[in-house]
Amino acid sequence: MRKILLLLLLLLAIGVVAGCSGEERPVIIMGTSADFPPFEFVADGGEGRHGQYSGLDVALAVRIAEALDADLVVHDAAFEGLIMDLQGGSIDFIAAAMTILPERLESVNFSIPYFAAVQYMVVPMHSEMSTAADLDGAYVGVQGGTTGYIFVSDNTDADVLPFIRASEAFAALLQGRVDAVVIDSAVAQRFVNANPDDLRIIRDNAAFGDENYAVAVRFGEYDLLTTINSVIREMQESGELAELYYYYTEGAGAPRD
Ligand code: ARG
Repeated sequence: MRKILLLLLLLLAIGVVAGCSGEERPVIIMGTSADFPPFEFVADGGEGRHGQYSGLDVALAVRIAEALDADLVVHDAAFEGLIMDLQGGSIDFIAAAMTILPERLESVNFSIPYFAAVQYMVVPMHSEMSTAADLDGAYVGVQGGTTGYIFVSDNTDADVLPFIRASEAFAALLQGRVDAVVIDSAVAQRFVNANPDDLRIIRDNAAFGDENYAVAVRFGEYDLLTTINSVIREMQESGELAELYYYYTEGAGAPRD
């Protein structure tokens, strides 16, 4: 009897210790492709909003981690692989300026939308292009797996060159290896602002559809999704999201038209 009691006490003690270590802060892993300013990028000098990472999505992820009382870890990887990373469990959510698409809804759940975008064409200043129809027969740089990639491959007769990183598509454009880059409006605007003498933007709203960014989670992660949605709602209502956008575009944000 005494032995059993002792054993029970021991088990209880182990349980308490285990319980204590269970109070350690959980870790939450954001998957992103940090090549997409103003949404996610590696900060100049390495001092970002979270570690070396900065941008609106990183700020959003910091808020999500705070709401969960968790430590945030940023997993920076190819955009194209993020949904597989999520499904494989190496990340907990995707915050990567990811557009809600019907085909993506087959593999992930999306939060409420937090940003509206459209595709822009970025071309050299003296390019003769003026609409999306001019992409036919041109070399067009895109980031692999993105809506820009999907649009150019499905709707044009362009020679599409998918790059792993958005920055590589822009580099190819500056070097004259592609004739145009098709990419999200705010990202295009920011890159052209940085290269105002060499590049310009073409908007073709008749060709490119409206897009909405949302955070993606695995199926079944309803608690996480609820928390993310309330963080987004709060940041929208308080004006924090709009302020962050202004902050990361230095007031020169892309108009949505
Ligand atoms: N919005 C586009 C999409 O969902 C491009 C997103 C690219 N994101 C990034 N972090 N590089 O396909």
